[in-house]
Amino acid sequence: MAATHKVTIGNQGGATYVVDADRPLLETLEEHGVDLPYGCRYGGCITCAAKLTDGQVDQQEQVALNNRQVANGYVVLCVARPLMDCVLDVGVESHDKLYRNPFLDPLEPHELKPGIIANTATSKES
Ligand code: FES
Repeated sequence: MAATHKVTIGNQGGATYVVDADRPLLETLEEHGVDLPYGCRYGGCITCAAKLTDGQVDQQEQVALNNRQVANGYVVLCVARPLMDCVLDVGVESHDKLYRNPFLDPLEPHELKPGIIANTATSKES
């Protein structure tokens, strides 16, 4: 039998669902009837971002979030798999820290994606 974890949706009345540990949260929560936003379904567009307020997920496949968004607790549900019981806020209501004004609040180098840091370093050398 596949491993499972409990996922609680904090901003939907604390509803709790048992989900498979080896499948994306978007997929398993949808099967439970949770209505969630999504776009690409491969970790590239940020539409499905949710805020992880407790627990831990594996989202190595995601390419949409920068390090600041990850540090603020964001996970992309279409690729994130739970590593333990988790609590999430979902939907646009959870996106208060997801977007930023790049002119007022630019990312620091350590908040960039690794590939962008490498490209920036390369372009400064030439
Ligand atoms: S649906 Fe695009 S990142 Fe999840």
